[in-house]
Amino acid sequence: MKLNIALLAGDGIGPEVIDQAVKVCNAIAEKYHHELNWRPALTGAAAIDAVGDPYPDETHEICASSDAVLFGAIGHPRFDNDPSAKVRPEQGLLRMRQKLGLYANVRPTFTFPSLIDKSPLKRERIEGTDLVFLRELTGGIYFGKRGREDNGNTAYDTCTYTRKEVQRLAKKGFEMAMKRSGKLCCVDKANVLESSRLWRETVQAMEKDYPEVTVSYEFVDAVAMRLVQWPNAYDVLITENLFGDILTDEASVISGSMGLMPSASIGDSIGLYEPIHGSYPQAAGKDIANPLATILSAAMMFEDFDLMDEAAAIRDVVNRSLEEGIVTEDLAEGGKAYKTSEVGEWLAKHL
Ligand code: IPM
Ligand code: MG
Repeated sequence: MKLNIALLAGDGIGPEVIDQAVKVCNAIAEKYHHELNWRPALTGAAAIDAVGDPYPDETHEICASSDAVLFGAIGHPRFDNDPSAKVRPEQGLLRMRQKLGLYANVRPTFTFPSLIDKSPLKRERIEGTDLVFLRELTGGIYFGKRGREDNGNTAYDTCTYTRKEVQRLAKKGFEMAMKRSGKLCCVDKANVLESSRLWRETVQAMEKDYPEVTVSYEFVDAVAMRLVQWPNAYDVLITENLFGDILTDEASVISGSMGLMPSASIGDSIGLYEPIHGSYPQAAGKDIANPLATILSAAMMFEDFDLMDEAAAIRDVVNRSLEEGIVTEDLAEGGKAYKTSEVGEWLAKHL
């Protein structure tokens, strides 16, 4: 297969982890006879510095005309502590999601047998966890009307959803549940929020089209609690943008390291693949960040092209590296800590 892949390294540790994912993908391409054409483009603080825009038109053209986007991380502390900043790196990511129509963010959470004891949660709670969040990504409070009133002394952000937006996300949720265990959980706050009542009503109306799927409806606060108590109770969870942002960070704790969890943002055409961790500026340039989340995101990319053997090969070699202790310092726990680049090289070599 011939694939054009836009390569958006972004900020902080983004470039380092992306480099390792490219090594691994190139090794896959060689082994399975694919042709990968990497198309680097600027985004985030790096793009603000270069051209004053975190998602320049040129980057959008490159993404929109590629088969997939592989993304590192976005964000820089110099903007975080400056509430008056007019242009922020994160705006680039949000605009990219919207312009590329990436309305569904797929965030799996699973455990690695060799790492179970690294999780701060007890083994008996998390063993066998295998769930996936489908987070709505281009609506809700992230994109609703916001502003200031009263001479700047009152601020508001609004959460708006249309039935169509809920339906297209929920459809992906039902389809995914059918491929898995047939269990779908709709996470909302329908006891308080009107937008959540629209979610619930819309999903309820879709149930009849998917008789094989059992749907549960749970409030977001309760899910936040149960997720770390009985993660095994869940399989596919669908939720709106902000709830999904928060719950997926929480869920990453189950796996033992945020450096491990991949994600895919999909819509009706192109997909974007990125680790769920941020730009980790303290580690930037030190060659210590864990590249596995980005590498496992690349596995999700191959899977979306129906290249199942390629995806499985990546997951297998990642498992082997964990079992053999070829890990970065976040997982080393007293053992030898390998550099980001060494982990990438090891994986590429052992594929
Ligand atoms: C994520 C991140 C982003 C989000 C930020 C960087 C805008 O936290 O992908 O989860 O809130 O969606
Ligand atoms: Mg987040």
